[in-house]
Amino acid sequence: MPMSATADTSKTVKLERYNSYLRKIHSTKVLNASSKVLFRATLLVALVLVLLFAINYPPLSDSRAAAAHHLHRRSFLSTGLFSSSSSSSSSSSSIGGAAWEKRVRQSSTAKRPRGLSVLVTGAAGFVGSHCSLYLRKRGDGVLGFDNFNDYYDPALKRARQALLEKQQVFIVEGDLNDGPLLRKLFDVVPFTHVLHLAAQAGVRYAMKNPQSYIASNIAGFVNLLEVAKAANPQPAIVWASSSSVYGLNTENPFSEEHRTDQPASLYAATKKAGEEIAHTYNHIYGLSLTGLRFFTVYGPWGRPDMAYFFFTKDILHGKSIDIYRTQDNQEVARDFTYIDDIVKGCVGALDTAEKSTGSGGKKRGQAQLRGF
Ligand SMILES: NC(=O)c1ccc[n+]([C@@H]2O[C@H](COP(=O)([O-])OP(=O)(O)OC[C@H]3O[C@@H](n4cnc5c(N)ncnc54)[C@H](O)[C@@H]3O)[C@@H](O)[C@H]2O)c1
Repeated sequence: MPMSATADTSKTVKLERYNSYLRKIHSTKVLNASSKVLFRATLLVALVLVLLFAINYPPLSDSRAAAAHHLHRRSFLSTGLFSSSSSSSSSSSSIGGAAWEKRVRQSSTAKRPRGLSVLVTGAAGFVGSHCSLYLRKRGDGVLGFDNFNDYYDPALKRARQALLEKQQVFIVEGDLNDGPLLRKLFDVVPFTHVLHLAAQAGVRYAMKNPQSYIASNIAGFVNLLEVAKAANPQPAIVWASSSSVYGLNTENPFSEEHRTDQPASLYAATKKAGEEIAHTYNHIYGLSLTGLRFFTVYGPWGRPDMAYFFFTKDILHGKSIDIYRTQDNQEVARDFTYIDDIVKGCVGALDTAEKSTGSGGKKRGQAQLRGF
């Protein structure tokens, strides 16, 4: 072989080696670069997952309260009975934290020696707001409870809430059917009394929304009694029944001795059911229970769904008002009770209520059962 050909061959071999060396370096770089991209992507995904976890789950330190809050929101959503305004309110979202518990305790603590500690359900309502203010001014501890539903304009309920807040009465926003929330309240505060006024009121609305009467006046009442019976100490309970339980009874004037087994509306039927349910919880669990049969209440901050509001509006507009007669064409009369007298009755019932006798969810003796 000639000299020049040999030199060429050795050059080609060297070039080939050099090229293969370059290819190796290149592929290692590509490999390094792609593993860097993979590493960064994994890190990013992990960060996103951690972020999602942190947003969706409440802090572990307050897991119990968080669970209650979770359940609270869920029960609103699952019953679907109430307006979105009540379920998405700002105060319900802060339920369960340390600041919330502090407010609950402060509001429920009496400011006078041997003062009561009262949970007032329906505190944003007409009767509830007046009773709460009276008790607070007397030096008792008062914690309100209300779901602010839109049976009538919730703005009126918010205005009453603002009035109560000025007197340091806190209203917890929640539904009677929210067991975990009610239990949480009884865990935080050893209430001596419950003034139970939350209910679906009104007679005519039952034609539109009958289920709301069952949910609040029966299921909600049972839920409250379940929580109260298990509480230590068990509170004494004063609650609003209604004169409507007299139904088709024509004897006059009404007396507690009269029959109440002929309700003339679904509202009345649920209040009558409440009286029987109260009897059961008194009998089985030793809860002290007093039911009050209010007769149409009127006064400042009153309920705009009531006839005296319609009458007044029509009179102010120069319109005539409808006066109904009985089936046999007789004139009808109706008793009205001024709100201050209802407050006196409620507070009197609270002050004279005997203690419940049960503990640990068990009856330990005969307990007081009253109806007026
Ligand atoms: N006002 C009257 O003339 C009259 C007469 C007889 C009986 N009552 C009874 O007295 C009580 C108070 O009546 P009021 O006139 O103040 O009525 P209201 O409607 O003004 O007050 C009731 C309050 O309870 C709340 N509420 C209703 N369902 C609830 C639920 N499931 N969970 C939590 N809160 C709920 C409402 O938001 C409302 O603020 C009611 O039990 C009512 O049936 C009233």
